[in-house]
Amino acid sequence: MPYRLTVIGTGYLGITHAACMADLGFDVLGLDVDADKINRLNAGELPIHEPGLEQVLRRGLDSGRLRFTTSYEEVAAFGDVHFICVGTPQKRGEYAADVTYMDTAVETLAPLLESECLVVGKSTVPVGTAERLAEKLARLAPAGGEAELAWNPEFLREGFAVHDTLHPDRIVFGVRSERAEKMLREVYEPLGEVPVVVTDFATAELVKTAANAFLATKISFINAMAEVCEAAHADVELLSEALSYDDRIGGRYLNAGLGFGGGCLPKDIRAFMARAGELGADQALTFLREVDAINMRRRARMVDLARELAGGSFHGCTVGVLGAAFKPNSDDIRDSPALDVAVTIGHQGGQVSVYDPIALDNARKAHPELNYGVSAIEAVRGAHVVLLLTEWQEFVQLDPVELGAVVATRRIVDGRNALNADLWRSAGWQYRALGRPNP
Ligand code: UDX
Repeated sequence: MPYRLTVIGTGYLGITHAACMADLGFDVLGLDVDADKINRLNAGELPIHEPGLEQVLRRGLDSGRLRFTTSYEEVAAFGDVHFICVGTPQKRGEYAADVTYMDTAVETLAPLLESECLVVGKSTVPVGTAERLAEKLARLAPAGGEAELAWNPEFLREGFAVHDTLHPDRIVFGVRSERAEKMLREVYEPLGEVPVVVTDFATAELVKTAANAFLATKISFINAMAEVCEAAHADVELLSEALSYDDRIGGRYLNAGLGFGGGCLPKDIRAFMARAGELGADQALTFLREVDAINMRRRARMVDLARELAGGSFHGCTVGVLGAAFKPNSDDIRDSPALDVAVTIGHQGGQVSVYDPIALDNARKAHPELNYGVSAIEAVRGAHVVLLLTEWQEFVQLDPVELGAVVATRRIVDGRNALNADLWRSAGWQYRALGRPNP
């Protein structure tokens, strides 16, 4: 009999994991404390935008292999393997991660575990959390040692969540017994040949934070080069292209622009620094302060460039903003560089009008003070400056002539180095970009 799986927490990670595991043939029960969300999920409605996920969710529900509940009792009675996928946000006013949801999940589940099972942490946590949770589980579970903990970090990207879950480039098992390793191997067997790295708890936790720290560093590296390029009148796009041909460097995560945002990279590098500090290894990660600072400076530089194009002040100026999501193909606005820039320009007196293909509702809820257009054309109508801040394909394909006909003045800042500069310039636009020369 294949294992029966449960997934606790239905955010981007939990929903995707639950739906994909059901698609692989497992019986899966998802849990969240938010009853409204559970009702929507059971009705096949996704509370988030994630390409391809709704079909996988519906397939799971239709097959009878996937269900969602708010009952921990049901989850405990159902599952052989319990995946914990709750959020670990940044603490308010601090760098550290808030692992309360993680602790609450274990404290609620553990006393209900009567028989042999595996509890698997997937969320991104400060190193040392698994060790602490394992002690908690051993203390609270009536099953005693039969209820074991494992750590299995998740590396999925939003926008590619289904693909990344079904085709991971590696799987990490932080385990303390052969039994735990064997159970996890069985769970992931339907994925076929995937490199598996078996580690202790601490290494498994660190793999995830190290991966995100590396990616953030790579992005900030090229954005630091963009700063130098601006000062030296060089072109970061060509620089990045030339670097990308070096196999040792590689071209991915080397797109200069407005920098990284979202629910992971920014908070994960901060939580990593905070944890290293607690461990007395803070010096090892002081470079991440720079990575963070470079990233935040890109947003400030974007505002400066927009103000320069507006003639030195935003007062009396209409700014059309294309993009609100932290990246294309997502409705996620958590720590979105695009919205951050839009809000700052609003504070500095600009009349901001934002459009995003999918993230508009989320943006409107978070920032009702901004104006929102119903389309890209409507958002830039009458604008003195247009800003491209999230590189949705729809924006990359915009016709500069068509757009030129509705704006007040043809001035654009390409915050993602996503547009064809020559095309826009030849359509009469003043085109500026981060890290590129202004001829
Ligand atoms: C990231 C990691 O990629 C993933 O492995 C981890 O599990 C969660 O965090 P995600 O937050 O979905 O995933 O987004 P990602 O595609 O990595 O992009 C992060 C941010 O970096 C976005 O704001 C994006 O616009 C920016 N970015 C990315 C750049 O500015 N330049 C690049 O070259 C690449």
